[in-house]
Amino acid sequence: MCGIIGFTGNIDAKEVLLQGLKALEYRGYDSAGISFFTDDKITTVKAVGKVSDLEGKAALFSNTSTKCGIGHTRWATHGGVTETNCHPHKSGRVTLIHNGIIENYKELAEELAEKGKQPISQTDTEIAAMVIDDCYKSNPLKAIRKAVKKLQGAYAFLIMFEDHPGSIYAIRNGSPLVATATKEGSVIASDMVALIKYSKDYFVLPEHHIAQLTSKSIKITDLDQNEVEPDMLHVNWDMAAARKGGYDYFMLKEIHEQPEALRNTISPRIKNNMPDFAADAIPDSLFSDLNRIIITACGTAMHAGLIGKNMIETLTRVPVSVDIASEFRYQNPILDKRTLVITISQSGETADTLAALRLARENGARTLSIVNVKGSSIARESEYVLYTHAGPEIAVASTKAYTVQLAVMYLIAFRFAFVKGTISNNEIVKLTKELEKIPGFVNEILSCDTSIEPISKKLLKTESLFFIGRGLDYALSCEGSIKLKEVSYIHSEAYAAGELKHGTISLITDNVPVIALATQENVFAKMISNIREVRSRGAMVIMIAGADAQVDASLCDHLITLPPIDDAFAPFGAAIILQYIAYYTAIARGLNVDQPRNLAKSVTVE
Ligand code: F6R
Repeated sequence: MCGIIGFTGNIDAKEVLLQGLKALEYRGYDSAGISFFTDDKITTVKAVGKVSDLEGKAALFSNTSTKCGIGHTRWATHGGVTETNCHPHKSGRVTLIHNGIIENYKELAEELAEKGKQPISQTDTEIAAMVIDDCYKSNPLKAIRKAVKKLQGAYAFLIMFEDHPGSIYAIRNGSPLVATATKEGSVIASDMVALIKYSKDYFVLPEHHIAQLTSKSIKITDLDQNEVEPDMLHVNWDMAAARKGGYDYFMLKEIHEQPEALRNTISPRIKNNMPDFAADAIPDSLFSDLNRIIITACGTAMHAGLIGKNMIETLTRVPVSVDIASEFRYQNPILDKRTLVITISQSGETADTLAALRLARENGARTLSIVNVKGSSIARESEYVLYTHAGPEIAVASTKAYTVQLAVMYLIAFRFAFVKGTISNNEIVKLTKELEKIPGFVNEILSCDTSIEPISKKLLKTESLFFIGRGLDYALSCEGSIKLKEVSYIHSEAYAAGELKHGTISLITDNVPVIALATQENVFAKMISNIREVRSRGAMVIMIAGADAQVDASLCDHLITLPPIDDAFAPFGAAIILQYIAYYTAIARGLNVDQPRNLAKSVTVE
């Protein structure tokens, strides 16, 4: 969602802001703006559309020297996509950018109206700027402390005060902010991708703390004015990871990065052919004490949870449920200290997943999160964390983050089965060795793109299609469907193959595409029957099957087979095929796969 960057230092701030906003484009946005100090005045430039549009407008100021400024990409929530609603917003001496939602903005607007103050935009953010300005006499810290007492909701603010040139103030509640002080100056952003150019070392601004950035340093104080030293973090990826590196799109690059991401996630957690979480500081007692698991997440991360449920239940016989995080709180979930709530999140900032985690903790459940972004809110608020090591995921559509989430779910299932003693150590060793082979298996399957691209072209004009599967393949169908929808804009639905005839088969007519996953031997015969059902109603069938599957040529129009692999690990291969189908279909339709319309990478509002 909204991207934030602020810089104050000894190099051209406009350039830092524009470069930073370009790096943040992947988060999804519809307009962009920057504000910067020129002498003692703040100049603001805004544009609806892309950062390149903003860049064009900012070129008017190319001869203007500035060393301090803030920049923002806006993903509209309150008010349409217009220049007036675009950030930064100005009120009196305050200029501000914001990521989040101010929930009580209407009441605050009424209070301000009583004082004769009216906003010019439709945004909650302008109201926040007005509230801070209303509290401001001459001391920025005092004004911020006073103003945040009035604001309800989630926010990350960067604020400049016209009479304090060279300084940027930041505060956050919920929405993320990371910062670093370097020899060029102090820089702060909504995520590391905008900071990596300047440093691999950074800190997450603690919630409800104010950062004051000057060209020389960053000072952090809590709301009681105590100075606080931040906990420094380090990322082990670099600028190259945040660039396309010769690929047309980040999505394709990230699909190809899966073998390495999987290796980095799996290898450090295998000791003596057994899964081992000692380095993650996860004690076996976490598993021995529990009698139930709830997995909660959103979108693709939730689909990884569906596969995880299958693995954990199969190997441990402990019941696992998977809940959509945005629904979790409204289902009055049954939670106690023998329940482990596993939250899964690439960004670690998804508002609904974070809220579900908080509810779990409040109700005494144990919590473990599977997160890709170090130091993110979900990672920090969970009792235990298992980081996936996928590196930065820039494309909006999640690919490598999904398969590494699967890998961690498998490791959890193996370790849990070991602790419970539900399967023999020999079996665990065997499974662990299979998992270790997965990066190589995925590498092998990556070359199937040449056969998938022509099949995807057949979907070019499709308006609607279906994914069907049973068991693990049903969970994968859900993932295949979301991937295709989000990047190709083709309507699709995932159906448990046996369920189709209970209503939805009425939509299967001549040439309606059905992507049928049949990688699991135990349900293969039943899948064949289900495929025949759609086939006999005219469906165009694309079938994904295991290496040894005996498939009658009349059963499908296109057959894609996996290299040989134990059925339990087939999801790693099928996931790649589904990612390719989505990618090449979107490419065939001429779409920007990295930034699909309306979508944001990190969904920090509920
Ligand atoms: C789909 C996709 C989304 C995310 C979801 C959760 O490709 O990326 O469905 O999986 O928004 O995001 P995280 O994992 O950051 O919590």
